[in-house]
Amino acid sequence: MNLQRLCRLDELPDGGSRGLLRRGGDDQLCVVRQRDEVFAYLNDCPHEHRPLEYRQDRFLAADGSHIVCYAHSAHFDIRSGLCFAGPCTGERLVPVPVTLRDGDVWVPAVLPNLFD
Ligand code: FES
Repeated sequence: MNLQRLCRLDELPDGGSRGLLRRGGDDQLCVVRQRDEVFAYLNDCPHEHRPLEYRQDRFLAADGSHIVCYAHSAHFDIRSGLCFAGPCTGERLVPVPVTLRDGDVWVPAVLPNLFD
C-alpha cells in the first residue's frame, strides 16, 4: 500500500487531537494521539455526514476521554470509533490505518475526498 506522510508524532499533542489533510475548508482526518498510539478517522460523522469538530483541531470531549461530534453531540470511542451515545449510537467512524515509523505518522496515499 502506498503511504503518505501525515506529520511527525511530536506534532500531535499527547492526549489531544488534530484535524489534518485539509482540502477546501475542511480537514479530511480526525487524528487522536494517546501516548505512542495514534488513531485516525475520516472527519465524517455517520449521523448527517458533517465534519465532527467545533473548531479547528477540537474533536475531543473536555476531559479528552472520547471524540464528540459537536453538531448533535454524538460520542465516539477513541479506539474503535464506535458511537456509544447520541443520535447515531451503534454506528462507527470510518477508521484510517496509521503507520508509525521513525517518529513520523503515515496514512494510505489514497483517501476519499469527502468534501469536494
Ligand atoms: S452530524 Fe454528528 S451528531 Fe449529528
